[in-house]
Amino acid sequence: MNTTSHTLLSPYASKITGTGSAFPQERLTNDDLAKKVDTSNEWIVERTGIRERRISRPGLLDEQNSSLACAAALKALEMAGKTPDQVDQILYATVTPDTLIPSAACWLQKKLGAHRAWAVDLNAACSGFVFALSMADQFIRSGHVKTSLIIGADVLSSITNWSDRGSCILFGDGAGAAVIERTDGHSPHRILSTHLGSDGDLWELFHMPAGGSNLEVTPDAYSKNLHKMNMKGKEIFKSAVRTLSDYALLAIESNQLKPEQIDWFIPHQANLRIIEAVAKRLDMPMSKVLVNIDRFGNTSSATVPTAMDEAVRDGRIQKGQLLLLDVFGAGLTYGSVLVRW
Ligand code: UT7
Repeated sequence: MNTTSHTLLSPYASKITGTGSAFPQERLTNDDLAKKVDTSNEWIVERTGIRERRISRPGLLDEQNSSLACAAALKALEMAGKTPDQVDQILYATVTPDTLIPSAACWLQKKLGAHRAWAVDLNAACSGFVFALSMADQFIRSGHVKTSLIIGADVLSSITNWSDRGSCILFGDGAGAAVIERTDGHSPHRILSTHLGSDGDLWELFHMPAGGSNLEVTPDAYSKNLHKMNMKGKEIFKSAVRTLSDYALLAIESNQLKPEQIDWFIPHQANLRIIEAVAKRLDMPMSKVLVNIDRFGNTSSATVPTAMDEAVRDGRIQKGQLLLLDVFGAGLTYGSVLVRW
């Protein structure tokens, strides 16, 4: 586990100055899914809280991963009052890049025309946005970067096993973006602390056997759906409740705060029951929890930035408020970030 509570001396701090999100147009409802696999709207709503999700149409240029990210990034840059050529760094969290080579980050750099930026993908699965935010914070606080563009974007529909009713009901596609800028180290409006962790021993709970260098997508692998996500739902559920609670408390206690002082809790959106169980453990009323899983499902690295963007744009998130971002994902990976807006 790595915790940075920002007691380390730096003249700089980092601040989120813009947010944006984008989703594909096509809605896939639970009733639509019930035509493909043996499930029902009632079961999905009761067990997950999901009503519909958005799905990118394959081959549509506007709905490629980096195109969704580009639309989200342009909105975030506009909010921050920045142009693409003012971006120093693009950190792009995804497990479904347009291509493995080049990276989604380089596709995005090209689409944005962010010529000055260096660009790189990072893979922490559903935790990716919080990992990218923590890294941007470090680059800014060390003085190497002034303006960072971070992305959490995934087209999970491309790696979903559409014949597995135990998992295909969960996932959707979308992109979230944030502009992170250097601010004064003493500014109250900044990232207050970051906390990251991983546990590779638990890789088997959520993995994709084929498509990497271990196993090519041979006809045999393809016929067995080994190039799609494989998930042990029940085990992940328990692990998620435990680690989300632990990392939320870690961020709260590292800043000598109490849960009731948090204005907005922004957890990864994997299952509404996971979110409710964590909120209960933290004694946090659901009225303080940002939720978008009902409309978008689990969009992996995009869940936290899109939920945050929605609340920034509709005015729920106000200057001076405390935001707690909290994630878990395949790997396994975990993390939290505390922000004073
Ligand atoms: O980024 C995040 C990574 N993933 C997660 O966080 C997922 C975490 N896990 C979950 O969200 C839940 O475990 C699931 C939603 C995947 C499954 O819910 P559950 O309440 O744990 O159901 P279960 O696997 O215990 O299955 C209960 C029953 C089983 O039937 P039997 O054996 O009791 O007859 C399943 O076969 O529900 C059945 N079932 C379904 N029924 C209708 C499983 N999936 C479905 C379905 N529709 N889609």
